[in-house]
Amino acid sequence: MTVNVPKAPGKLPAPRLLGLADRRDSVTHLTVDVQRDRRRDAFQSRRQFLACTAGGCLYSLSAYGNDFSLSMTTRSIMALELPSLPYLPNALEPYISARTLEFHHGKHHATYVANTNALTKDTPLAGKSLEDVIKATADDTEKTGLFNNAAQVWNHTFFWNSMKPGGGGVPTGDLASWINGTFGSLENFKENFKKAAVTQFGSGWAWLVLENGTLKVTQTANADTPLVHGQKALLTCDVWEHAYYLDYQNRRPDFVQAFLDHLVDWDAVTRALST
Ligand SMILES: [Fe+2]
Repeated sequence: MTVNVPKAPGKLPAPRLLGLADRRDSVTHLTVDVQRDRRRDAFQSRRQFLACTAGGCLYSLSAYGNDFSLSMTTRSIMALELPSLPYLPNALEPYISARTLEFHHGKHHATYVANTNALTKDTPLAGKSLEDVIKATADDTEKTGLFNNAAQVWNHTFFWNSMKPGGGGVPTGDLASWINGTFGSLENFKENFKKAAVTQFGSGWAWLVLENGTLKVTQTANADTPLVHGQKALLTCDVWEHAYYLDYQNRRPDFVQAFLDHLVDWDAVTRALST
């Protein structure tokens, strides 16, 4: 069931394009940098950190509390950085363990970043934004490897920011109206989303997207992403086995249910709608 999307919710902080100087000069971002460094110290090995920052890092998509910002500079051509988690690795327990997040973010996500950097190095795509790399390679069968790694960088960053400690609950305001109007009820939306997540054969993602003014639940295989389908991503759940196997083994439905009931950040969905 779909309906026309009513007016957008109240204006919320939009993603910002910031240069390094902007970040240095901003007290807010200095604070964020300190927080980011604490998380980085707690979560990443020194070698991993140095590998990601060698030569300078340009891309950072982070959410801290209610702040959601996209930071990028094009002053020099460097490499992608593994974005810090927007919470501590144990912050989503008991629904996602610290051990899962340490592997998922510190190994899997980090590898996608490293592979993307290696595959764009010394090519015309070096220094392009992550989104541009994804769109430039989506239909190029000779660059499938680069597309897969770059899209996985983007998808994972979006996934981290789709969750928060103490998440779940119910959406509010206009978002609640949109969901009720489109799916009939929040419970029906959750059933639709869970079905998409559970029936995605093999590896992939379940999404809530906005397409042509309509909310839709979709599923994508492997690294595929709404970015290349004319859709605005609003919410995602990673259903690759590495996302849940340590905690749930083969019980993907239980993982998805926990995601919907206890982890979804509805405020992040509202912010995504407003950008
Ligand atoms: Fe993943």
